[in-house]
Amino acid sequence: MPKNNDTYVCQSCGMVYSKWAGRCDSCGEWNSIELEQSEASPPGSHGAKSAGRGKSIELVSLKGEVAREPRLPTGNKEFDRAAGGGLVPGSALLIGGDPGVGKSTLLLQVAAGLATAGTKVAYISGEEAVAQIRLRAARLGLADAPVHLASATSLKDILATLKAEKPDVVIIDSIQTTWSDALPAAPGTVTQVRACAQELVRFAKGSDTVMLLVGHVTKDGQIAGPRVVEHMVDAVMYFESETGRAFRILRAVKNRFGAAHEIGVFEMTGKGLEEVSNPSRLFLSEHEKPVSGSAVFAGVEGTRPVLVEIQALVSQSSLGAPRRAVVGWDSARLSMLLAVLDTRCGLDFGRHDVFLNVAGGMRITEPAADLAAAAALASSLFDTPLPSETAIFGEVSLSAAIRPVPQTDARLNEAKKLGFHRAIAPANIPDRPSLKKFGALDDFVRWLKQI
Ligand code: TYD
Ligand code: MG
Repeated sequence: MPKNNDTYVCQSCGMVYSKWAGRCDSCGEWNSIELEQSEASPPGSHGAKSAGRGKSIELVSLKGEVAREPRLPTGNKEFDRAAGGGLVPGSALLIGGDPGVGKSTLLLQVAAGLATAGTKVAYISGEEAVAQIRLRAARLGLADAPVHLASATSLKDILATLKAEKPDVVIIDSIQTTWSDALPAAPGTVTQVRACAQELVRFAKGSDTVMLLVGHVTKDGQIAGPRVVEHMVDAVMYFESETGRAFRILRAVKNRFGAAHEIGVFEMTGKGLEEVSNPSRLFLSEHEKPVSGSAVFAGVEGTRPVLVEIQALVSQSSLGAPRRAVVGWDSARLSMLLAVLDTRCGLDFGRHDVFLNVAGGMRITEPAADLAAAAALASSLFDTPLPSETAIFGEVSLSAAIRPVPQTDARLNEAKKLGFHRAIAPANIPDRPSLKKFGALDDFVRWLKQI
């Protein structure tokens, strides 16, 4: 008979149940639900009786003397940028990504950078043997960096070592290979991942150590042994790449000590990951002369402005139901733009195949890119190139209004820096030279038609 405080947890997605079931309702996995015995009664659970009364805690005012959290720069500018300006002592970070994307490479480079600058770094790998890591370090030209290296998977051993060695920064590669012998569950299961992460995070907080946890992501973009770790750590960063591309984006999706959505851009080369300080270069293509269907979007990723080319191809279709295909763009958002262009601006895409592609393998989620995508679509339909050296931004509403977007100045300044001296933008932003403003998409389409 299970005790009251026992719960059943899906080992695939982390969903918690009060009784066992053969199939997880949340992720659909079979036979993934296992009994998890809790050591103590969680607060508020039935039958939980705490011994004795709690002691009174001191309540204080918001205002008070606090030192600004010191930052430990890693020397890797792109990494620091994504982390919000360096590592904060006593914080825990999760770095997720597909197997093979370059997490171990990135962290070895970060470790070497920190160690060379005099920080005590322990790199503990459960995935590779010491010899393998040494080989990689030699290939990256980092063999001389004084990194403290170990290959281990037992949480108990790792914690004992860390307590004795007292490093400033610890890298655990990966959290899925770390296991605690106090639990019956197999390594890599939700139960193990959660327990190990909890212990490691607790150690980081108690000893002012920076804890960098590597986590492999499953194909649907979730960290296996999932979400459970995300809420325990101070920052979550994903290392992403497009298939067949050399560049990698380190994206902060949560950061207690900095801006979320900040990105660091890297290029995977034969000598490891190189920092890309001017990412717009990657996402713009060179055209000899202006081509129709190409629009340059002045975007912002986190706090960094990035110019990205959006390409559209609208071609006569022989199919009953014409094709709509997107790369780096949301297909629902394409449908919305086509509907607005059709209903409000009188453009007929009904007998055309429509392809929309974000150049360079970038993925755009900002609504501010609507106007640039609409411009690319209209430009391809009319077979009229957009004016050269022009950056575009603005959100399009269902009523075809072009709405203002945040960080106008950052966008315009980045565009100018890269030789885009003209811009097309929403109506209600301050005037600037060479700035063409539109309040409605149909006005823009009419203007485009006559150029
Ligand atoms: P790795 O860091 O092992 O990935 P992860 O830890 O995320 O699983 O990276 C492995 C890939 O990176 C591998 O396919 C080879 C490639 N790579 C290079 O292209 N250049 C290099 O200098 C290194 C070290 C790796
Ligand atoms: Mg690895």
